[in-house]
Order: sequence, then structure tokens, then C-alpha cells
Amino acid sequence: MQIIQDKASLQAFVAKQRQEGKSIGFVPTMGALHQGHLSLIEACRAENEIVICSIYVNPTQFDNKTDLAKYPKNLHSDATLLVDASVDILFAPEDDEMYPEGLETISSTISFGKLESVMEGKHRKGHFAGVGLVVSKLFHIVKPDRAYFGQKDLQQYAVIRQMVADFSFGIELKRCPIVRETDGLAMSSRNVRLTERERFVASKLHETLQSAKNMLQEGKSLNEIKDTAIANICKHKDFKIEYFEIVDLKTLQSLSEMQKEPMAICVAAYLGQVRLIDNIIAEEFN
Ligand code: PAJ
Repeated sequence: MQIIQDKASLQAFVAKQRQEGKSIGFVPTMGALHQGHLSLIEACRAENEIVICSIYVNPTQFDNKTDLAKYPKNLHSDATLLVDASVDILFAPEDDEMYPEGLETISSTISFGKLESVMEGKHRKGHFAGVGLVVSKLFHIVKPDRAYFGQKDLQQYAVIRQMVADFSFGIELKRCPIVRETDGLAMSSRNVRLTERERFVASKLHETLQSAKNMLQEGKSLNEIKDTAIANICKHKDFKIEYFEIVDLKTLQSLSEMQKEPMAICVAAYLGQVRLIDNIIAEEFN
């Protein structure tokens, strides 16, 4: 595996692979890699001749400066995992490579309308503008055939799909399933910040999503499902729920009634200082 830190070298590498007719798959990450990230790499490895993974903790998508400062960084151990996963190129730029003009001068913003007026977008102001900005930069630099994202960040996948369509990026997007710990907790780089006790109750989020999905399948009303789920989570006083929504899978708009089209049940909650998100898709109603 080659580690590249500057755009020009990466672009030269990609141009050469393209000349040779090779397909290019891309997995953007912020590092602190775990099995969730590695599942995207595995999917990418299976479908492309060249696999490029990026590690860049993007400052413009953090609405909370403490979260940015605390974001775990371990490039060395990440690189070892990527070698084992047969990645061809690790692109690991510094801030001045991604934002050469500095962060203060950025004046273009991407907005996603109704898609970002709910859930993560509603509670993390400017988050998706930052994600859209950095992912579009990365797409322009890497020019992949396919790019891989996790269902863990369902709304992020939705806004990027919208951006790719609206700006004609011509990149095929793949949504990969959520990888979980054995007790159901969705893997996340933030999980290491949970105390032992918080880590124990954290699994209740997935348990609650799973029973909410069962209730959907039993035909219970969405209000009853929401109330039961919220009460379930609040039984554990360490949790502070930010939102619990049953939404249309595509538009992500909140639903008040059951529908035939695929739905998603999404939750965000704080456990102490750590913000956790999770979701489950219900599409067996088709
Ligand atoms: P990061 O949080 O590092 O996540 C990188 C990718 O891994 C995302 O597509 C995310 O959905 C996926 N992922 C994280 N945990 C997962 C899990 N448990 N199972 C499956 N996939 C999982 O998302 C970002 O970085 C950034 O916003 C980025 C897109 C890189 C832009 O800066």
C-alpha cells in the first residue's frame, strides 16, 4: 500500500490506472478505523481493481469543536489495518492540502433542502454542508467509478446521493449494512469514549430499534411505536434522546402513518458526553 498526502500525486496515480483501463473504488473515512469501515473496504475490494481509502478528519463538518478536538487519531494503526485489507492507496491529506486557502475564506456552500432539515441536519447546524464540501472535493480529486458509504450514517448517504445526482458526478454509490458489536451496538469511532457503565446500556438503542421494527410489522400505530421506544430508552437515565423518528427511507421525512414504501427508524441520543446514532430499515412491506 502506498500512502499519499498530496492531491497531485494521487491524481497522477489515478490517471495512470485509468489509462490502463482499471476500475477505481473509493472509501472516504475519518480514520480511527473499525470493522464497520473495513466492511466498506471489503465491498470495494470485491468490485474494483483499485481501492483507494481516504483518512481525513474534516474540520468543516464538526459543529462541535470539542468533538473535533477529541476525535481519535491513529494513522499508524489505521494504515496497518488497511494493508491487511489489501488497500492500494491511503490518501491522508493535511488541512492545507484540502483547504489551501484556509478555512475562513470558504464562501460556497451546498445545501440539501428538506433532506437536511430533519434529524442530523436539524441538530448539527452546518454539518452536511461540511460533509458535502469535503466529499465533493474528494470525488473531484479521486474521480472514482464507485464510492462506498455506510447505512450507519443514513442521512449522510442520502445527501451524498442527492449531490451526486444534482451535480452529475457520474459515480456509482453503494450503501453498506451497519456492522455491530455482539450486543448490537453499532460500531463507531466514538464508542471508545463510553465509560464501562455507558457501554453496557448503549446496546439498548439497537434493542429498541429492533422492537420498534417488530411493532411496525405487527401493524401498531407509529405514535404507539414511538412512545414505547422513547419510554424504553428513557428507562435508562443515562440516555438523553435527541430524536427518535420513523421516516420515509428515501426522503427521510417523518411519517405519521404506516406506508408501503420502505421506511427507516432513526435515533440519536447522548450517553454522557458521547452522541450515538443508529437506525434500522423496514422494507419488507413492499
Ligand atoms: P467516518 O465516520 O469515518 O465513516 C466513514 C464511513 O464508514 C461512512 O460511510 C460511515 O457510514 C461508515 N461507517 C461507520 N460506522 C459504520 C458501521 N458500524 N457499519 C458500517 N459502516 C460504518 O462518515 C464519515 O467518516 C465522514 O463524514 C466522511 C464521509 C469521511 C466525510 O468526511
